[in-house]
Amino acid sequence: MFIQNAWYVAATDAEVTRKLQAVTVIGERIVLYRTRAGEAIALEDACVHRKLPLSMGRLRDDTIECGYHGMVYDGSGRCTHVPGMDRIPTSARVRRYPTVSRYGLVWVWMGDEAKANPDEIFQIAEADNPAWGRNAGGSMTVACHVLYITDNLLDPSHVAWVHQSSFGNDACADTPIQTTEAASGVTAWRWMRNVPVAPFYQSLVRFTGHCDRLQHYEVRYPSHAFIRAVFVPTGAAEQEGANHPLAMIMDSYNFMTPVDADTTRYYWFQTRNFEPHNAALSEEMDVAVRNAFAEDRVVLEAVHRGFKDQRTPKIDLAIDRAQLLFRRRVKERLAAEATP
Ligand code: FES
Ligand SMILES: [Fe+2]
Repeated sequence: MFIQNAWYVAATDAEVTRKLQAVTVIGERIVLYRTRAGEAIALEDACVHRKLPLSMGRLRDDTIECGYHGMVYDGSGRCTHVPGMDRIPTSARVRRYPTVSRYGLVWVWMGDEAKANPDEIFQIAEADNPAWGRNAGGSMTVACHVLYITDNLLDPSHVAWVHQSSFGNDACADTPIQTTEAASGVTAWRWMRNVPVAPFYQSLVRFTGHCDRLQHYEVRYPSHAFIRAVFVPTGAAEQEGANHPLAMIMDSYNFMTPVDADTTRYYWFQTRNFEPHNAALSEEMDVAVRNAFAEDRVVLEAVHRGFKDQRTPKIDLAIDRAQLLFRRRVKERLAAEATP
């Protein structure tokens, strides 16, 4: 039901500690902890004996002791001790999921271990650029299928109605949206010309008057979005675009992890090409983004319920092209994974 050969965010770095933590990623229950040396460990959360979640056991040094009959597992998932038995059954091991810490997040590989390549984790071009700032970001649980969120993140038009007080304004209502496809995913984008700056960005732009605004909404497989907003003085879109010296660029990274068909974990942070060390600004942006994403959550959960109760056909509009294409490609990938 979900793409398996992919890296997903399982938790933030801060959430993986010396305390056993249970998470569910694409329907698979995982126990997370950190070794004394600082490595994040992700194991199948079910003892081989009676399937008690290992997360209900105890961390002893870098091993987990099952909370039911005391079987012990090391960080590779191998059982190293069975109380009352000298010989450990060779099949006594739980699955270990490869992990990588990047961008303050712990990523787990959910597919065939031989295919796990950390270079395939979402690449952020400006991650180490000192001229760019980053806010802390956040996370939330959304009671909807992941594809409603990826639909939303391929839909620049919704800001005109859902985020009227922040990201959107009337200028966002009617400009046609372009769709571009790459091997990594799908992008919906448009330049809006000679439009007022939307409320959220008004205090941030470094020029006065109207602007040309780019909305770049890109979702990559399995469910990771790169949303770029560019504001330049009116007329600059054509020649220089984001390279204009006064361009204000804000990038939003959105990493969605399906829990199951009705629940998704959503992690995000933003980067910007201005005032990299302004902590108050980072904080302000965190608050504004959190409020805006709460607006999305209300809509997305209601859409999920709406489709669960669906009694009449839905219709698709011109603005839906990118999302429909992305959904088609996801289906093809699922089919390819299902055929050995
Ligand atoms: S259920 Fe884990 S040791 Fe029995
Ligand atoms: Fe939104």
